[in-house]
Amino acid sequence: MESSGVIRISDRDFTRLTEYLRDHYGINLTKKRVLIEGRLNHYLVRNGYDSYTAYLDAVFADSTGAEFTNIINFLTTNYSFFMREWDHFEFYRNRILPELKSRVKDYDLRLWSAGCSTGEEAYTLAMVTNDFFGDEASRWDKRILATDISQKVLNFATAGIYGAEAVEPLPKTWKLTHFNKLPEGRLQAKDSLKQEVLFRPFNLMEKVFPFKKQFHVIFCRNVMIYFDAKTKVELVNRFYDVLAPGGYLIVGQSESLDRSATKLSYVMPSIYHKD
Ligand SMILES: C[S@@+](CC[C@H](N)C(=O)[O-])C[C@H]1O[C@@H](n2cnc3c(N)ncnc32)[C@H](O)[C@@H]1O
Repeated sequence: MESSGVIRISDRDFTRLTEYLRDHYGINLTKKRVLIEGRLNHYLVRNGYDSYTAYLDAVFADSTGAEFTNIINFLTTNYSFFMREWDHFEFYRNRILPELKSRVKDYDLRLWSAGCSTGEEAYTLAMVTNDFFGDEASRWDKRILATDISQKVLNFATAGIYGAEAVEPLPKTWKLTHFNKLPEGRLQAKDSLKQEVLFRPFNLMEKVFPFKKQFHVIFCRNVMIYFDAKTKVELVNRFYDVLAPGGYLIVGQSESLDRSATKLSYVMPSIYHKD
């Protein structure tokens, strides 16, 4: 440890940590030394470690996986907000939902928010879906599967409590219909909204996706930005396999797919279709 109290990560420890994260979680932090030290130092100090070597030895020796869960909680970037990239939700409401309404005969919609972070994307999706179906809403099973590797964000999402600033973009009617008021301008998702979303831990690097039924829509926005090209292509291929014919994959607006490496067809920037 340096006299300033800052613990520096050696090249060897930096490599073993970033390679593990890249190989097991797809997260590429090989150029993010400052971010790693910035986010982990405090934890090391608080837990009595005086070097990354001692800490990482303990992490790699922990067969329960709890220590890695911890690292993931610290090192993933979980930024998200309600109504984010609203154009996607308009496309979903105006194009995808009318298609599904006329095509899905068993009233079972299969929606997935992959890399859902603190839940804003999945809850926005649930509220748009609910609005679209209106009086017919109760007839449809439109529960959204929302997954992430970070248990910390999933706990937050499940509690469904958002600060005054976070809920500001929400339309007034949605606030009234779908949220309960808490002190200091905070809002909590009502049980009726929470029931529309199933939050579950899931690592998108799993080689086999364990879903029994295919999805009609997958939102995987602002997740693959941390993945290298090969990881991304492999993941998009797995998405292709779990999409129903006619289904859509929506990625973040700053992202694009290598079109020569996927069977998905391009609809418009950041929106892809399984023909
Ligand atoms: C920036 S947030 C995006 C949240 C939301 N989709 C949005 O666009 O607002 C990225 C999320 O992806 C999750 N993530 C990163 N790698 C993952 C992986 N291998 N499997 C599952 N989730 C992952 C992170 O934990 C983080 O919560």
